[in-house]
Amino acid sequence: MTDLTTLEADVLAQVAAAGDLAALDAVRVSALGKTGSISGLLKTLGAMSPDERKERGAAINVLRDRVQTALNDKKAALETAALDARLASETLDLTLPAPHRRRGSVHPTMQTMDEMIAIFAEMGFAVAEGPDIEDDFHNFTALNFPPKHPAREMHDTFFFNTKEDGERMLLRTHTSPVQVRTMVSQKPPIRIIAPGRTYRVDNDATHTPVFHQVEGLVIDKGIHMGHLKWTLETFLARFFETDAVTTQFRPHHFPFTEPSAEMDVQCDRSGGEIKIGQGTSWLEILGCGMVHPNVLRACGIDPDEYQGFAFGMGVDRLGMLKYGMPDLRDMWASDSRWLSHYGFSAFAAPNAASGLS
Ligand code: DAH
Repeated sequence: MTDLTTLEADVLAQVAAAGDLAALDAVRVSALGKTGSISGLLKTLGAMSPDERKERGAAINVLRDRVQTALNDKKAALETAALDARLASETLDLTLPAPHRRRGSVHPTMQTMDEMIAIFAEMGFAVAEGPDIEDDFHNFTALNFPPKHPAREMHDTFFFNTKEDGERMLLRTHTSPVQVRTMVSQKPPIRIIAPGRTYRVDNDATHTPVFHQVEGLVIDKGIHMGHLKWTLETFLARFFETDAVTTQFRPHHFPFTEPSAEMDVQCDRSGGEIKIGQGTSWLEILGCGMVHPNVLRACGIDPDEYQGFAFGMGVDRLGMLKYGMPDLRDMWASDSRWLSHYGFSAFAAPNAASGLS
């Protein structure tokens, strides 16, 4: 065996033994690198006679090509093995069920609002809207709140800065201004509800600075409180999904209605939680009354010809009652656990045909 065949056998054995790409590269450097064994042999050629160099040079080149080929083959084999191992470890079983992901849900307030709209729509009410930023006329004056009347302060109003013309805009404290906007722009008969956001400077377990109301307004000839009572009772029976709802009118005062009343529902509070349709307690749930003649006049409607009733109820509060949520502030906490517990599917939009909740 010549020294070249010994070296070749040695390097090829090292190539065969390399277990990964790093080890293989170390073999390449030790043989073909600048100071490698085969490179070292090439450097000895200079000291030889031309004939010797020709023969020896050709032999060393053959050796170098064989080693290079062996290195290339081994490198390709190692890369294929690495890819195979990676593919084997990263396989995805498409027959497995998809991993659980939390999905968005419809907020209970919006669900409650949609239920209320669906019930009133079935009774022939149209939906009316107005701006959240109101002026004094629509929020107070046209609703028969006299200027400087303390009731304006009672509403804990969020006011904007006074404008140059002396007017002070405000965040509407109730949805009643939509009554005014509707009566000013439409001729009777009118039958609308106005769902929307309302704002007051108030924050505790049963009050939040932003809340939601649904306002109702009916204007026609010969309207009386019996129509109001039937409308509200029919609504509540549908909303709470029980005919056992018992209600009472309690005399009250609102500037925009005369007479005015609050409506209570009979309930049971004995178990620490409020149950509708049973028990001996009463719970106030809405305000209502016959539209005051001054309000009709302010909106250009003759009170001798037309009468009407109006009501306003808190959406968040009715939702809490129906779905058993204890603290109003949770509604605004954006806690995804609370939302996934109390939230509703977007595909379960309430309507009279498929059920309400
Ligand atoms: N606007 C009243 C409030 O926010 C609620 C209300 C009471 C509305 C009686 C009405 C009504 O339309 O007739 O406190």
